[in-house]
Amino acid sequence: MKPAVYITRKIPAEIVLKLEEHCQVRMWYQEDVPVPRDVLEQEIRHADGLFCLLTETIDRKLLDKSERLKVVSNMAVGYNNIDIEAAKEKGITVTNTPGVLTETTADLTFALLMATARRLIESSDYLRNGDWKTWSPMQLTGQDIYRATIGIVGMGRIGASLAKRARGFDMNILYYNRSRKYELEEEFNMKYTDLDSLLRESDYVCIMTPYTPETKNLIGARELSLMKKTGILINTARGGIVNELELFRALKEGEIWAAGLDVFEQEPISLDHPLLTLQNVVTLPHIGSASIRTRMKMADLAADNLLLALQNQTPKYVVV
Ligand code: DGY
Repeated sequence: MKPAVYITRKIPAEIVLKLEEHCQVRMWYQEDVPVPRDVLEQEIRHADGLFCLLTETIDRKLLDKSERLKVVSNMAVGYNNIDIEAAKEKGITVTNTPGVLTETTADLTFALLMATARRLIESSDYLRNGDWKTWSPMQLTGQDIYRATIGIVGMGRIGASLAKRARGFDMNILYYNRSRKYELEEEFNMKYTDLDSLLRESDYVCIMTPYTPETKNLIGARELSLMKKTGILINTARGGIVNELELFRALKEGEIWAAGLDVFEQEPISLDHPLLTLQNVVTLPHIGSASIRTRMKMADLAADNLLLALQNQTPKYVVV
C-alpha cells in the first residue's frame, strides 16, 4: 500500500502529481488560508508523511497525535515552526529546503536595502498622492549605498550571497557569525567583528541568522542604541530576532534612520501595529524567496525530501 501524505496548502499541480505517483495524497485545498489546527490534528493521525509550510506550528502536541508519521518536510529553509526535539525523540525525520532559495532571498534583501535607503516606496506614494509639485534640492533624499559599510549578522549561505552583492557596490563588509568563515573573508574582502562593533560601525545592519532560542530578541533596545543615527536595519530572516516594539521606539525617536522588514513576530502583522504608522519603515509580506522559479524549486525539493524519507533513503536536506 502507498504511504499516506498530507499537504497543508495547495501547491503546484506537477508537484502533487509527482507525490501521487508514490503516495496517497490528501491536501488542504483552500487557497492561501492555513489549514485549521483541528483539521491538521485529524489529518496527522494517519499520515506517514507531512508536507508543510512555515505557517504551520508543528509542536509536540501535534506530533503526539500522529500514529505513524515518519517525516515532516518543511517547504522552507527555516524550521523554527517545528519542535525539533519532539520530532527527534519520536524518531520523525524533519527536512528543509536550503540552497535553492539562496540567491533569490539575497536579491530581495538587497532590493529591500536599496528601497529603504533611497525611500522608494515613500517616493512612489508621494508621486501618486499628488505631492510632487516641483524638483527641489533635498526632496526625498536618502542614504548612499555604494562604498557604505554593511554589517551582516549571520554568515550562512544567504549571508554570503548578500556579501557578494555588497562587493558589487564597493561596500565595506563586516560580519558577525558563531564561527569565522576565513575563505569567505578572503573572497569578499570582509572583516569579522563582534556584534557590538558591527552595530556601531555599519551603515546597514542586515539580519541573516536563523531564529533559535539564542537569537530571539538578539536586536533590542541596547543593540539599536549602538547603531548610527543614520543606520538602517534590514531583516529578512525571522521577526522574533528583532524586538519590534523597541525597534519602533528607536525609529520614532530617530535613534536609527530607517528599517526594511520582510518578516515579523506575528505574521501577517496586525494592521494596527505601531511599525505601520512610520514612514521610515519599508514593510513586505515575507517574500524573500518569492520568485516563481525558486518557489517551484522549493516545492520540488520538499517533495523529494519527503519521498526519500518515505522510501527509507536519506533525504537531500535533513534537519534531524
Ligand atoms: C524560509 O525558507 O525559511 C523563508 O523564510 C521562506 O522562503
